[in-house]
Amino acid sequence: MRETIRELISEEEVNARIRELGAQISKDYEGKTVHLVCILKGACIFMCELAKRITVPVSMDFMTVSSYGSGTKSSGIVRIRKDLDDPIDGLDVLIVEDIVDSGRTLFYLEEVFRQRGCASVRTITLLDKPERRVVDLDVDYTGFVIPDQFVVGYGMDYDQRYRDLPFIGVVEFSEE
Ligand code: IMP
Ligand code: MG
Repeated sequence: MRETIRELISEEEVNARIRELGAQISKDYEGKTVHLVCILKGACIFMCELAKRITVPVSMDFMTVSSYGSGTKSSGIVRIRKDLDDPIDGLDVLIVEDIVDSGRTLFYLEEVFRQRGCASVRTITLLDKPERRVVDLDVDYTGFVIPDQFVVGYGMDYDQRYRDLPFIGVVEFSEE
């Protein structure tokens, strides 16, 4: 099988949308500090680009969860593999995800964070595949809604590859 990447959202489009999201968040969090929590590894590039566009003070922490094996299908079980470095009680937390698929990861994380006594918990995702949702989840900020296709780039991987692509693409397989 041969793998090719077809561009779905260009670098310019992604960057323009992140600017808009940054402006919206800066307005919504006026007078506050936004505590960005990056869900590693997929959200790392998105979170850094977003942080650069937010004009209110920002702090950051990082968490690793796993719900996926090495392929393109969710196992349905969410596990925290690396927890935050610092407590988050009293903070205005914005959980930053790369993509919402079944919704299980963010649904689970929102609940975990609420139990830790944050002043507020909101969620942002660069991409959303609503067709695939299996839980009832409201995401506060969404970059792009996309069809049910497996995407890579801008932090997102297929078997740990393609995270470094500056655009968002779809993995396509063809017979050699
Ligand atoms: P969910 O729990 O099913 O919503 O899955 C969310 C996680 O699955 C995301 O944080 C991604 O890491 C991964 N994921 C879902 N769809 C894709 C995709 O199309 N490309 C890359 N990773 C994906
Ligand atoms: Mg992820």
